[in-house]
Amino acid sequence: MIPIIKPWLGEEEALAAAHAVRSGWIAQGPKVAEFEAAFCKATGAAHAIAVSNCTTGLHLALIGAGIGPGDDVIVPSLSFIATANCVPYVGANVVFADVDPVTQNVTAEGLDAVWTPRTRAVIAVHQVGMPLDLGPIAALCAERGAYLIEDAACAIGSRYLGQRIGPHSGLVVFSFHPRKVVTTGEGGMIACQDPAIAARLRTLRQHAMSLSDVARHSSRTFLFETYDEVGYNYRMTDIQAAVGLVQLAKLDDMIATRRALAAHYAELLAGRDDLMVPRDPPHGETNFQSYCIKLLDGGRARRDALLQSMSDAGVGVKRGIMASHLEKAWAAQPHAPLPETERWTHESLVLPLYHTLTADEQEVVVAALLAG
Ligand SMILES: Cc1ncc(COP(=O)(O)O)c(C=O)c1O
Repeated sequence: MIPIIKPWLGEEEALAAAHAVRSGWIAQGPKVAEFEAAFCKATGAAHAIAVSNCTTGLHLALIGAGIGPGDDVIVPSLSFIATANCVPYVGANVVFADVDPVTQNVTAEGLDAVWTPRTRAVIAVHQVGMPLDLGPIAALCAERGAYLIEDAACAIGSRYLGQRIGPHSGLVVFSFHPRKVVTTGEGGMIACQDPAIAARLRTLRQHAMSLSDVARHSSRTFLFETYDEVGYNYRMTDIQAAVGLVQLAKLDDMIATRRALAAHYAELLAGRDDLMVPRDPPHGETNFQSYCIKLLDGGRARRDALLQSMSDAGVGVKRGIMASHLEKAWAAQPHAPLPETERWTHESLVLPLYHTLTADEQEVVVAALLAG
């Protein structure tokens, strides 16, 4: 069996986790602060706030952007459902936008098509690591007074105009789930440019407590904390951060390998005009968090048959990205037609791609695909 993913974890991560356990400080503490500093260095973000996962990070980002009841937030339906789900957490309303037929991402034109007078924020997703064309989207949001939040759950190390995703927008949220390039088991990171928003979100992730645990424990005088608003427990642990530090140090290596594997798939599939393989867009470079191919022929029936025949052949495959508006949780939400979203969700599939995948295994995957 060739699995669809295999996190690249080894002895170094195990030792880092063991070291954190032996230190006696296992909840949010000095390792989380170290991980945040390393994350800023790796991405160019001004501030970074580690959180329990990307979904809780998106919730805090919406609070940081000042979004609340009565506001509309535009999101792609073509995304993991967390992108839409975090909007009602702040009492706001979801507006679904369609995506581009080549990149799977929202575009300025697609956002403009569904813009409402109450639109106060956009959550734009770098889908499967494919960088958004941020310039026109940021310009549209700035012109209309809406906050741009990037959902970069899959996009650590992807580049926009040569620069890693992180510092381009006020709030950019990452995931460290094991399906992502860098993992801490569960975990997330908010990259933030504004020091006041960063300070507030840092407090909100910890019950809105006025003092960090590190500050309280390292003070010689007795300190009393206060709680000035209703907060959350969205903390990452030091065990996770210790693993994250090791993973982050491997980021260049991880991305170089993924890009080489993707190039090999593209070679093996060259000349097939019945499918489309993912490629870098003109404005950036993807980290190939997933290798998602789109069928240009045969529709959903062929895609579903391929999922079955490839699984039967021992190849781990998955359907492409879900469409939130097709799930029961969002079925009652009014929306404009989403034809490209529906095409992507029904006519795409994800092939195995992970650091230790071999060229021979890629050939087995492609043989199973072409035999289907
Ligand atoms: C685009 C996108 N946003 C948000 C999430 C949620 O991430 P997490 O599982 O870290 O909450 C995911 C996870 O798959 C995702 O792909």
